[in-house]
Amino acid sequence: MLTTALTRLFDLTHPIVLGPMGGVSGGMLTAAVSNAGGLGLVGGGYGDPEWLGRELSLAREQANRPWGCGLITWAIKPEVLDLALSFEPAAFMLSFGDPRAHVDAIRRAGCKLICQVQGLDEARLAVEAGADLIVAQGTEAGGHGGQRSTLPLVPAVVDLVAPIPVVAAGGIADGRGLAAALALGACGALIGTRFYAARESLGHDAAKARIVAADGGDTRRTRVFDVVRDYSWPKPYTGRALRNDFMARWDGREDALAASLSAERTAFRSAAAAGDFDTAMVWAGEAVDLIDRVDDAAALVARIARDAETCLRRAAALADGAATATSLPLAR
Ligand SMILES: Cc1cc2nc3c(=O)[nH]c(=O)nc-3n(C[C@H](O)[C@H](O)[C@H](O)COP(=O)(O)O)c2cc1C
Repeated sequence: MLTTALTRLFDLTHPIVLGPMGGVSGGMLTAAVSNAGGLGLVGGGYGDPEWLGRELSLAREQANRPWGCGLITWAIKPEVLDLALSFEPAAFMLSFGDPRAHVDAIRRAGCKLICQVQGLDEARLAVEAGADLIVAQGTEAGGHGGQRSTLPLVPAVVDLVAPIPVVAAGGIADGRGLAAALALGACGALIGTRFYAARESLGHDAAKARIVAADGGDTRRTRVFDVVRDYSWPKPYTGRALRNDFMARWDGREDALAASLSAERTAFRSAAAAGDFDTAMVWAGEAVDLIDRVDDAAALVARIARDAETCLRRAAALADGAATATSLPLAR
C-alpha cells in the first residue's frame, strides 16, 4: 500500500486523483474513483449550473469516501462556485488562472484547495493562495495546459513549493507513470485521459473508441476548438486533442477560421451533438498509447496502484543491487 502526503490529506487508499475533465468526469465516475480509494473530482469545466447540479448531486449520493470538484479558474462566476460548494465537496480544484479571488469562499466552505499549475510562476501564485495541494501539469496532458514537460516540471515544482505536497499530471496512464511520479518527489498522480476511457465516464462511446485506437503521435495542442466554440482562453493555454479533419483544416489558420465563424460554428455544434469526431474534438493526452480498452474505473484504480507498487519494488531491488535492469513491458 502506498501511503503519501496525498493519501493522508484526504484519507485515501491509493495516491490517485481523477482529473476534473469538463463534461466527462461526472458524478458516477467521480464516485467510482473515490469509492475505489482514489480522489474523484467532478469536472465542472466552465460552470454550467444545470450540469453541475445534476452531477454534484450524483457524486454526493453515490460516493462514500471524500470527493471533490474542479472549475476553470478564469471562467468562474462567484454564484456558480457557491452552488458547487453547497454540495459539500471535500476538495476544490482550480486550474488555469489566478486562484486568489476564490480562496475565501472555498475556505469558508471548509474545503481543501487544490491548484493545478503549468509553470513556476503559477506555482508561486498557488503558494500565495494557500493551496493544500498543488498539481504540476505537464504539456503531455489531455485537454488544456501549458508548454512545460512533466518530467522536468514536477521536481522543479516540488522543490519550489515544499512543504506543500505536489501531485504530477500529464501523460500518466498506468502504474509505471504513478511510480515515476513518486520517484520525482510527487505524492501521487492526477490522471485524466485514462479515465476518459472508463465505463463510467460521460464521454461518448465513439470518443472512447478513438482514444483506445490512437497513439500519442495522434495528439496535438491547438487553439482551433476554442476559437470555433468562442471560448476566450487566455495565453498561454492550448488544448491537446486527437488530430481530426477539423484540426487539419484550421490549425495554423485560426484567423481564417475566425473570419468564417458563423457557418463553421453551426456545423461544429451539429457534429458535437451527433458524436461526429471527424469535426468535434476528443481532448486526449499523449499517454493514449497505453490505453487499449475501456475499463471500469475501480479496476483501473486498483491496477494502477498495484502496478506502481510492483515497479517501486523492482526499483528498490535495483538500488539494493539485487536485480539487473532490463526493459520490462507491463503485463496487461
Ligand atoms: C477530456 C478532458 C477534459 C479536461 N477538462 C479539464 C477541466 O475542465 N479542468 C481542468 O482543470 N482540467 C481539465 N483537463 C485536464 C486534467 O485536469 C489533467 O490535467 C489531465 O487530464 C492530465 O493529463 P492526462 O490526460 O495525460 O492524464 C481535462 C483533460 C481531458 C483529457
